[in-house]
Amino acid sequence: MSSSADLRQLTESHIEAMAFESRQPRNLYEPMAYILRLPGKRIRPVLTLLAYQALSGRNPAEALNLACSVELFHNFTLMHDDIMDRAPMRRGQPCVHIKWDENIAILSGDAMFAFSMGLVVKDFPEKAAILATEFTRVGMEVCEGQMEDMDLAAQSDAGIPEYIEMIRKKTAALLGGCLSLGALAGDASPELAFRFRQYGELLGIAFQLQDDLMDAFPPEGFGKQVGGDIIENKKTYLLLKARELAGESQLRELDALSQPGTDPAAKVQHTLRIFRELDIENLTQALIRDYFGQALAIGEELEHQSRFAPIKAYLTEIAGRKV
Ligand code: IPE
Ligand code: IPE
Ligand code: MG
Ligand code: MG
Ligand code: MG
Repeated sequence: MSSSADLRQLTESHIEAMAFESRQPRNLYEPMAYILRLPGKRIRPVLTLLAYQALSGRNPAEALNLACSVELFHNFTLMHDDIMDRAPMRRGQPCVHIKWDENIAILSGDAMFAFSMGLVVKDFPEKAAILATEFTRVGMEVCEGQMEDMDLAAQSDAGIPEYIEMIRKKTAALLGGCLSLGALAGDASPELAFRFRQYGELLGIAFQLQDDLMDAFPPEGFGKQVGGDIIENKKTYLLLKARELAGESQLRELDALSQPGTDPAAKVQHTLRIFRELDIENLTQALIRDYFGQALAIGEELEHQSRFAPIKAYLTEIAGRKV
């Protein structure tokens, strides 16, 4: 069986072989080559290949186009997300909309999306209908989640359940989709593929919580702007929990900081101070552990039905991730 490190390497070579940098028109393809060459973790294709291997017992290289389809789809969402979030940096380098411009980022993102749809059905034409249906469902959920992310940012009375549902869609749907697509390609029954999807969605909720935590409390080598979520009034678990626990003066301060025109550096500094006062970092870590635990519980059941050990090991790796 291939390890996650082998599968990541396989994915890198397959993406590199697509040679986007030498395609025309250059302004469309160079940003694609650029974002794809930045050091991403490739979690989604690795999950897809692990699920395929677990279900089929065959060589995961057979599902490489399917795996790359989810990575290209992911990079398309990142290119557009960075415009929506007004982010300057991605994977340690300037975002495409900064290095080029917004129109180029929109169109290169669209092209990656279209390209990813072509890859979904390439390896398994006999399963085209079922794979395309699953891929489309995931795509719609991601768009719904991204819309809810922006709607919540503009709202002052958002609750934690709405936040969890929003991240289930914008992030966890794709991680769940990677496992269900890999499982379906590997001949899983619809019921078993659904359990793989649920496993991935719980993992995905934990993953987005980790991402939100790192945005405020960055690890070494974090390749994004620190405090970007705070600046953009994103309703993260950190902020919602802080609002829930805040005393009257802290709540007044959080309200004042969210007003338009607040100096971004002061906004980040004072919001972080309130997060520290309320022990938000530890509370978020506890919720992350809870969701990873829920995923592991489904994993125990799946272990009896497939070669599951490498997926479980990979989940543990993701749970301990640093960037
Ligand atoms: C970033 O995803 C966007 C989220 C859904 C949190 P990753 O943290 O997987 O980003 P890369 O692909 O490794 O850069
Ligand atoms: C993005 O969530 C999820 C997507 C669907 C792209 P974030 O906006 O938190 O992701 P980062 O932090 O920019 O990577
Ligand atoms: Mg973002
Ligand atoms: Mg975003
Ligand atoms: Mg983020």
